[in-house]
Amino acid sequence: MSAARGGRAGAVVTGVGTCLPETVVDNDEVSRHLDTDHAWIHSRTGIERRRRVSPGTTTGDLAVTAGAAALKSAGRDDCDLVLLATTTPDRRCPATAPRVASRLGLRAAAAFDLAAVCSGFVYGLSVADAMITAGTCDRALVIGADVYSSIVDPDDRGTAVVFGDGAGAVLLERGDTGDPGAVLHTELGSDGTGDELITIPPDGAYLTMRGSDVYTRAVTTMAESARSTAAHAGWDLADVDAFVGHQANLRILTSVAKRLRLPPERVVSNIADVANTAAASIPLALADAAAQGRIGSGDRLLLTAFGGGLTWGSAAVVWSGAEPVQDQRS
Ligand code: COA
Repeated sequence: MSAARGGRAGAVVTGVGTCLPETVVDNDEVSRHLDTDHAWIHSRTGIERRRRVSPGTTTGDLAVTAGAAALKSAGRDDCDLVLLATTTPDRRCPATAPRVASRLGLRAAAAFDLAAVCSGFVYGLSVADAMITAGTCDRALVIGADVYSSIVDPDDRGTAVVFGDGAGAVLLERGDTGDPGAVLHTELGSDGTGDELITIPPDGAYLTMRGSDVYTRAVTTMAESARSTAAHAGWDLADVDAFVGHQANLRILTSVAKRLRLPPERVVSNIADVANTAAASIPLALADAAAQGRIGSGDRLLLTAFGGGLTWGSAAVVWSGAEPVQDQRS
């Protein structure tokens, strides 16, 4: 369904690209090293397999490939902002985004990292939308890229089975809120009193997660955030064509959809194939849905994420019909 031309300047999504590592690790392989099995992982999370980078491949490498793919999808070769959402930057200092921009051949683009864990992509989309609307930049690559295999304890069955590596990106350009691809509304939130629920402790090397506590918070908060965002975009929930939630757990997505009274066929999920890819999760799901023809030009998409911080965010986007470019690397 096409939105009427809105007449207000805003940002539009014109391209989407992804990068997944070639190595596939299925549940049976994970279970060889851990006290778990395919039946538990699949029934509790919906996950069947995940991707893992080869030694030496970094977040920046995945981000460059996904960023190039998004530019290609939009038929562009430059932009003036690169925003990289990640929890696993290549170095603590400097940010990873400037190097990603240079490797993409972008001279003098503004570039910075954004740390909002699994909500990072939606945070990035909101920031880039605001910067374009304010006239600070004209064209922005928003990349979500994470290599959680570098921060997950391979001996912790509570996290090792859940996460995968990957990157996804969209290109945003100045447009009109009535154009296909328009970002109509975004909302962000946080609650730092829950910062211990997903954390790398100061004296630790690995991520710890209080999974069942996060689960409960994720369901209620994602539903509230999605509902409010749809209302601010002027949408009835019944008019939402696709709910593209952060792929943390299929049961979370199903519960949120139930609260929103969205039928299962409107819930986009690729968690079976890629697991929880943190900041990359929503653009990877978007690209898969577009590639499979599950979303088309003019469809109303409700994007919602939740993650460490705690942080959350939602966006109401009218899909542009962009053809995704999906790439791989080692
Ligand atoms: N295999 C087998 N058993 C496992 C297991 C695994 N991989 N992981 C945990 N268990 C066990 C626990 O030890 C526990 O056993 P106990 O009852 O004997 O103590 C039992 O399963 C239940 O643990 P619990 O943590 O309550 O499981 P769960 O159903 O909540 O599933 C998650 C765990 C991580 C899959 C789930 O909590 C989750 O998806 N949480 C949300 C993650 C999220 O949204 N993150 C936000 C952004 S990253």
